[in-house]
Amino acid sequence: MSTTELLLISGSLRERSTNTAALRTAAANAGPGITTHHYTGAAFPQFDPDEDTDPLPESVAELRARIHAVDAVLLAVPEYAGGLPGSFKNLIDWTIADDSPGSLNGKPLAWINAAERGAEKAHAALREVLGYAGSVIVEQACAQVPIAHESVGADGLLTDPAASERVTAVLHALVAAVRG
Ligand SMILES: Cc1cc2nc3c(=O)[nH]c(=O)nc-3n(C[C@H](O)[C@H](O)[C@H](O)COP(=O)(O)O)c2cc1C
Repeated sequence: MSTTELLLISGSLRERSTNTAALRTAAANAGPGITTHHYTGAAFPQFDPDEDTDPLPESVAELRARIHAVDAVLLAVPEYAGGLPGSFKNLIDWTIADDSPGSLNGKPLAWINAAERGAEKAHAALREVLGYAGSVIVEQACAQVPIAHESVGADGLLTDPAASERVTAVLHALVAAVRG
């Protein structure tokens, strides 16, 4: 059986991020036949349509190549001030112009909502933005798994077994959808 490749993108740049920990934990428990790649995008230039042309900024070209190389994308994005983190929206803006086969346009995608406070506005915005991107949202793999800041261990993984199990189930649901 060939491996299923996933790109995991956290919308938080925080070192002890609950969103990043959720993705890391799901990846650590993925099991055989699944390869995960983490992406932070910390070094992105600010989106400028004038720069969205060949040759692309190196980090943008790399992001687009990474998206093309995987079968699906798994996100975990926090809410800041009632919306998506600016850094994450910036990352997505850099992907919009690429609608070639293998891009976010048509790519299966799901998310973990790790917010304790719900983050409804950010996730409503996420759904809308991904609509512009043309991603295929795998609804059965999108889940709310509230994670407390204290649940991130020194190793960057979740210490709560129930939350670990749930984020891993999200990843497996996405893989199952991709494999059909
Ligand atoms: C400046 C700031 C604004 C925030 N605004 C919101 C908000 O509007 N809604 C919300 O649910 N959480 C909000 N939060 C809480 C963060 O989303 C929360 O700390 C979350 O755990 C951050 O994600 P991370 O743990 O992956 O870094 C805010 C936090 C900060 C620092």
